[in-house]
Parts: sequence; C-alpha cells; structure tokens
Amino acid sequence: MTDMQGPRNPYRPGAGVSPLFLAGRDDTQRRFKAILSASPQLPANVRVTGLRGVGKTVLLKDLEEKAQAEGWLCSRVQVQPRHNNDASIADLVTELSRATVRRVSNATKVRQAVEGAATAALEHVRVAWRDVELSFAGGGDSERDIAKELYDAVAAVHRHRHRGWLLMLDEAQVLRDDTDRTGSHPLSLLIAAVNALQEKELAIALTLCGLPTLRTNLLRARTYTERMFRGEEIGRLAEPQAAEAFVRPLEGTGVAAAPDVVSRVVQETEGYPYFIQLWGAALWDASQDAGVAGFSEPLIDAIEDDIYRQLDIDFYDGRVEALRPAEQDLVLATARCPYPPLRTADIHGQIEHGAGYLNVLMGRLTEQGVVFRTQKGQYEYTAPKFHEYLKRRIGRVETR
Ligand SMILES: Nc1ncnc2c1ncn2[C@@H]1O[C@H](COP(=O)(O)OP(=O)(O)OP(=O)(O)O)[C@@H](O)[C@H]1O
Ligand SMILES: [Mg+2]
Repeated sequence: MTDMQGPRNPYRPGAGVSPLFLAGRDDTQRRFKAILSASPQLPANVRVTGLRGVGKTVLLKDLEEKAQAEGWLCSRVQVQPRHNNDASIADLVTELSRATVRRVSNATKVRQAVEGAATAALEHVRVAWRDVELSFAGGGDSERDIAKELYDAVAAVHRHRHRGWLLMLDEAQVLRDDTDRTGSHPLSLLIAAVNALQEKELAIALTLCGLPTLRTNLLRARTYTERMFRGEEIGRLAEPQAAEAFVRPLEGTGVAAAPDVVSRVVQETEGYPYFIQLWGAALWDASQDAGVAGFSEPLIDAIEDDIYRQLDIDFYDGRVEALRPAEQDLVLATARCPYPPLRTADIHGQIEHGAGYLNVLMGRLTEQGVVFRTQKGQYEYTAPKFHEYLKRRIGRVETR
C-alpha cells in the first residue's frame, strides 16, 4: 500500500496539531525561557492570548517541551466551561496536583527498582506548609485548600529533583469571576493560591492561555494580576515568517513553491497560521493529484474556490452552527455591519429587536467565544477573517 501513496502531506491544518515548522514565535520562546530561569525568586507566570487558530495551543506545547528540557515537570490541560465555578476549579487543581504527586513517586519507584536504593536520595523543599498557610490567616478556606494541594505537588516535584512545577491551562478564558461578592470566583481562587506559594518562593509556574478576553477576566479577578503575569499576545505572522511557515515544510520533499505563489498565499492568508496550513495542504494535494512537482499560479487559480469552500466548512461553519437559532440570526445580521469593530449601534440598524434583546444575545455570543468586547458597545470576532466569511455565507444564501 505504501508504494501507491506519494510522500505525506507536510502541512498540518487542525486544532492543536503542531506544524512541521513553528514560525515566528522566537521572541516569545526566548522570553518564556528567561522567565522560567528567573523562578522561583521571580514568579514565572505567563498569559498567552490570541484569536482562534492563531497558534496558541501549538505554542503552548512547544513551551512545554522547552520547560521540560529545563527540568520542569509540566501539567497541561484544556479548561472546560464546566470548570467555571469554585468547586470545579478546586477539583481540577486537586486532580492535577495528585496526578503529579503520583507521577513523580511512580517514576522514583521505577528508578529505585532499576538502579537500586542507592539513588534514592531526595531533596526537600525549603519552605514548610505552615509558612504558606500563615498567609491565609483570617478566612480564605477554599484558597487555602487549593494552595495545600498545589504545595503537595510542588514539594513532591522538588523531592524528585525537578526544577519546579509548571501548570499550563489552555482555553483559560472560560474562567470568569462573577462581579458580585457572593457569586463564584474560580479565577481568583486559582490565582490567589498560586500567588501564596510564589510569595514564599516555591517553584510553581502558571501559564494561562486563551482568547483575548482572558486578559480582562484576569484584571477583573484581581487587580494585581497585571503585574503577576507576563503578557504574550500571539498574532498573525509577519510576511517573512508567514512565508517561512508556508515554505519550510516543503524542504526535502522535492516540491517547490514559485515565489509568486508564496507571496499570494501570504497575502490571502494575511499571515494567519491555520490558513497557511490549510492553503499548503490543499496545494499539496492538488499538486500530487496532478502529478506536478511544484506549486504554480495556475495551480492556485484552479483550486482557490475549493480552498475557500474547505476553509468555510472546516473552520467557520461549525462556529455558527453550534449556536442557537436566535444567536445565528444575529451573527449573520452582523455581516451587513461595517467591521472592524462591530458596533452595537450598527447592529441595531440590522435587527428588529430592542436594546435589551441585543445585549442579552451579545452576552451569550461573548460567553460562547464568538465575539469579545473591546470597549463599551464595541466587539470583535474571535476568529480571524470571520466577517469576510459571514459575507460569503449570506451571499451564498441570497444567490441560492
Ligand atoms: N507559528 C506557527 N507556524 C506555522 N503553523 C502554525 C503556527 N502556529 C499554529 N500553526 C498551525 O495553525 C493551526 C492552529 O493552531 P492552534 O490550534 O494552536 O491554534 P489556537 O490558537 O490554539 O486555536 P483555537 O483558539 O481555536 O484553540 C494548526 O494547524 C497549526 O499547525
Ligand atoms: Mg487552541
């Protein structure tokens, strides 16, 4: 069967699927390593934000590898909307902490069995739990409980000679504190617990990754988070890096892209990583089908419409179809508004409902991560080039 197949497609369009060549993230990678090496004297917390498909998850995976190479033990998870309350975030932290404790002690057992008890000398963490606990004097029971779980994990990680414990939470924008005091405050809980350990110079590091709303959520949770986190805003790739993302996977394949094709793909994709992978994958398949060993302008011309159709199906349609009918109608109505930004005043001109209705629906669209609020009465879509997509979509319906 393998003889029949050509070489494997070197592009990786998908969610969280690492590309063959990770382009244009060198500065972030360098800063991340520097932050880790300054820990625990300086708290190593990083906030990574960006639009859909911009490459947050694959960057997170890459940073995890870098941290592991520096001796950190890493736990990376994707936060789910169901974690957005005090009890569930506490459960999640407990689960992760205990899994970490188990992981390191299993590793030690294995080492002891293989190498003998002589290698079993362990280090001890310098700070005792009661020193941390004192900072919770006067309330904060659940914060203290979470901090204790985290402490146990950090202590275990230390004993087993790791540099520290790195906790990485993807899709962290789903954690949002309620504004009233009696509501739930999952984000504050997590941060206060991590902060308590870091103040005692325990080597725990937190990376939170998500949509741009993560930043506002953090600010609302605790004002000091602005100083607690190093912010990394991940965006589209600049032209040279976008070109690299497109061209580098072709190295060693015997397939080449004509310079005109490279600049056209860079223009069309506007440097958005997912789009670059999708265009590359489509061009690759088409070139293999046609039995040509290069990406040329005629090849692009022949498949451009198909690429957009594929893009709509793979990347956009699902986002609209996951919504309830009223939400879908509203999103489609925004196609007729000027953009960017999306102004509620403009949306009013497109719908027959009142302000209350619009506010509720915009709130729901924000919660579902379709849009995010940039300022009062102004929003942006979380997916790049979403407005163009919506226009294509209503165009298709209207010409049917
Ligand atoms: N720096 C990069 N260079 C080349 N390709 C990249 C880069 N970053 C991401 N990609 C590609 O882009 C696609 C999307 O990446 P990823 O899933 O990490 O995005 P994301 O920001 O996590 O999206 P979402 O918000 O939907 O979770 C993948 O196909 C990945 O291979
Ligand atoms: Mg992701």
